[in-house]
Amino acid sequence: ENYSNQNLPLLGKKALVSAGPTYEAIDPVRFIGNHSSGKMGYAIAQQLKDLGADVTLVSGPTALPKPDQITVVPVTSAAEMLQACEKYFDHAAIIVMSAAVADYTPIEVASQKIKKKEDEFSIALKKTTDILATLGGKKKKDQLLIGFALETNNEFENAKDKLVRKNLDFIVLNSMQDQGAGFATDTNKVTIINRSGESSVFPLKSKEDVAKDICSIILQYIPSTI
Ligand code: CTP
Ligand code: CA
Repeated sequence: ENYSNQNLPLLGKKALVSAGPTYEAIDPVRFIGNHSSGKMGYAIAQQLKDLGADVTLVSGPTALPKPDQITVVPVTSAAEMLQACEKYFDHAAIIVMSAAVADYTPIEVASQKIKKKEDEFSIALKKTTDILATLGGKKKKDQLLIGFALETNNEFENAKDKLVRKNLDFIVLNSMQDQGAGFATDTNKVTIINRSGESSVFPLKSKEDVAKDICSIILQYIPSTI
């Protein structure tokens, strides 16, 4: 057996990770966004790299430093994130989509700053393309596709539904009900659900330790290369 393969079980494997929010432009100075920090996705990218994978990180706008020895592809909008993810998908063996992609984007982007006028104002939005579902539709047998689900109610059923609908190998359910879990924190509480509907419930942990739990499950799916 090869010593380095034991320590770097993902050596020679390409991984694709998405992270952070997307910003959907309204006009030259405004956007629709969300509070995703990108920390969860960056921690997963780091952990996959530490296991030997060749990692590409498609990242929405975050305040995080660029990680070493990881190819970072910066994007802003959901449309740009889709394009970047599709570009790297075919060659990736492990794909983890942890980005908080905007579900809707303005139908039109105003070319000039919108001036305030009426007391009430609304912006027409259209759905963005579901990146994860698009990749799920193209997934080959030798690719492992992992998604996240952010739910506030009916958590397990909603997450299982996303797993099936988007053709995932497993889904990481983010529990927003617990204090210290979610977007603006350094910790997360997750439940990992597989295609058989089996779930593993993990306690509240640092996002680095959650990334280790996710990667240890990834390793169970990757056939060992001796
Ligand atoms: N996702 C994506 N592209 C989108 C929306 C979501 O790739 N346009 C991915 C996220 O990266 C995540 C998963 O889909 O891995 C689930 O995201 P979530 O917001 O929980 O679910 P949605 O399918 O968007 O449904 P809803 O927000 O209505 O619960
Ligand atoms: Ca969503």
